[in-house]
Amino acid sequence: MEKKKMRILTGDRTTGRLHLGHYVGSLKSRVALQDMYDTFILLADIQALTTHFENPSLIHDSIFDVTIDNLSVGLDPTKVTIVQQSAVKAIAEMTVFYSMLVSVNALRHNPTIKTEAKQYGYSELTYGFLGYPVSQAADITFCNADLVPVGEDQIPHIELSRKIVRKFNDMYGTFITEPQAKLSDVPRLSGLDGNAKMGKSLGNAIYLSDSADEVAQKVRMAVTDPARIKISIPGNPDICNVAKYHKIFTPDKYDQICADCRAAKIGCVACKKILINSLNTLLDPMRERRAYYENHMDEVSDIILTGSKKANEIGDAQVAMMREAMHIAI
Ligand code: TRP
Repeated sequence: MEKKKMRILTGDRTTGRLHLGHYVGSLKSRVALQDMYDTFILLADIQALTTHFENPSLIHDSIFDVTIDNLSVGLDPTKVTIVQQSAVKAIAEMTVFYSMLVSVNALRHNPTIKTEAKQYGYSELTYGFLGYPVSQAADITFCNADLVPVGEDQIPHIELSRKIVRKFNDMYGTFITEPQAKLSDVPRLSGLDGNAKMGKSLGNAIYLSDSADEVAQKVRMAVTDPARIKISIPGNPDICNVAKYHKIFTPDKYDQICADCRAAKIGCVACKKILINSLNTLLDPMRERRAYYENHMDEVSDIILTGSKKANEIGDAQVAMMREAMHIAI
């Protein structure tokens, strides 16, 4: 008998297009995992509302943009299930059930909530924002996901999900799967401006949807070793952002480029040219897939609707089981 595949679920907030940081940290491994695991990709539009509720058109457009970003990197719609979070009723219902099991204090002390609240400049937190980790526990467990591939910042949320599930199972005698984080082993991609993080709100991102010219323009503006004001002065790749990018995107030539930089044999312009080439070589096949989907938007809608329908069937069964266990089914 064929062994049942383990299920993974991961997601992106629909608050804008995805960039190279997302690719390196998450999308790339999704592609590698899709054959091994039963993969669910969540378009987290409800979670997007927690910070962007005043911008419904951005969230609407991003549902499609994020879907196409995921498809463009090579996720195969015949293998993975792409799900719109707000379309899955079980997620909303489970969020309510789970909310009984989580203290407000635990949410207030969640380090990721704290960081994000600061980042957005919130002096007061809405109920929805403070509670999104509870909703995320529902995202993960409506389909009994085994593994959740995420970056470091999501660990507190996965821990909370585990706690909630444990509590629910203990209390009601159910067997909801306790999910496990599958931590990305890639260090966070820094911004080309030298900022520690590439982020859409930081204005330093290279988007998967950027054209070859846009990529070239952004790389040309990148900050390098500030002490290297002349080509004849040897550079220090240890403190150069472009070198960090070469390590990821030009791995075969990385050692040579660093040696040439230290020996002042290669200047920043030439070095950046190599990077532009590496990035565009990576992005070109993505651009091709993107062009296909952008010309077949009906197919994109279908992929989201089909995935969400399947998610609803799975989620409805989960909620029915939970209602039974909670003695609220009549
Ligand atoms: N919180 C995640 C982020 O900010 C997005 C997300 C929503 C998610 N639901 C999820 C990730 C479920 C993993 C599993 O990137």
